[in-house]
Amino acid sequence: PRRRRGYAGECRRAKRAIERTCEAVVDMFDAARLGRAVEVRRMVKLASAIGASIERDSKALINLVRLKEKDEYTYLHSVAVCALMINFARHMGLEPQEVEDLGVAGLLHDVGKVAVSDAILNKPGALSKVEMRSVRSHPVAGHRLLASSPGAPDLALELCLRHHEKIDGSGYPGGLKGDELSLAARMGAICDVYDAVTSNRPYKDAWTPCGALTAMQKWTGHFDPMLLDRFADSLGIFPVGTLVRLSTGELGVVVGSAGDADEDVVVRVFFDCETLSEIEPIDRAIAPAAEHPRIISRDSPNFWRFQDWDVLRVRILASSTASAAVPDPDHPIGPRGADR
Ligand SMILES: [Fe+2]
Repeated sequence: PRRRRGYAGECRRAKRAIERTCEAVVDMFDAARLGRAVEVRRMVKLASAIGASIERDSKALINLVRLKEKDEYTYLHSVAVCALMINFARHMGLEPQEVEDLGVAGLLHDVGKVAVSDAILNKPGALSKVEMRSVRSHPVAGHRLLASSPGAPDLALELCLRHHEKIDGSGYPGGLKGDELSLAARMGAICDVYDAVTSNRPYKDAWTPCGALTAMQKWTGHFDPMLLDRFADSLGIFPVGTLVRLSTGELGVVVGSAGDADEDVVVRVFFDCETLSEIEPIDRAIAPAAEHPRIISRDSPNFWRFQDWDVLRVRILASSTASAAVPDPDHPIGPRGADR
């Protein structure tokens, strides 16, 4: 991720871009409820403003849009997925037109939720079978609406229809699996769930970015694992247990997150790359806008020739009691909650 000095300034600009985009998303949902087509051109403009903010500073807007109140979720989630998709697509080196289209797709992906009542979307408890069926109708409903909206990019139709598919074929509406899923669908599934679980919802509190990625990595069959790694890299946030190299010339293991909004990544350093020797473990909090220390890269344990990395990693993670809590991936609210 790119870093610039004016993080605070960009946060102010990003806040305005988020507000403007959120208003447009509210309008879009209102119009959709009346059966009107989506104003695609307005969405393209807003997605490109979000892209410009991410180009100036890749963290400001994404950090801000994660902090939403429970009742803002439906609309701000679209803005968040737009920003995450743009950031992810840029990181993947996709063509500018694809980056823009995927941003627009992020804004439009959940428009089919107008077909689901607010009472169901915001229900604090578990959903009944009938309610779940209603929720699961939103990709097809949204796709139908976008298909009749002039100028909607193909990638937006694709993302709208496929963002709840899973790599093992257990998703909906098509139950597509593996290679049957387009890149856009696989990227969208990751961005959608990441924002869902890192947001406060009526039925669960937000997880930290680090905790969310740690849990998502354990949901075998849900996401494309290679893409999930690329997504983590695009955010500069890594699951607990990841080996990273810091600008201090040290290697460390990610142990959790810290700070007011859990923006900082806590890395337990244990190895000096210059002397090639182990050092006394110490925790460093890496702030999102800091030039130094910062995370340079995810590193391979093989490259550094750590003999038994799994054993060493467990020893490092256990070397202090300060490690942050990780959500339980088996908790039923996790992947199921993300279906909404
Ligand atoms: Fe959705």
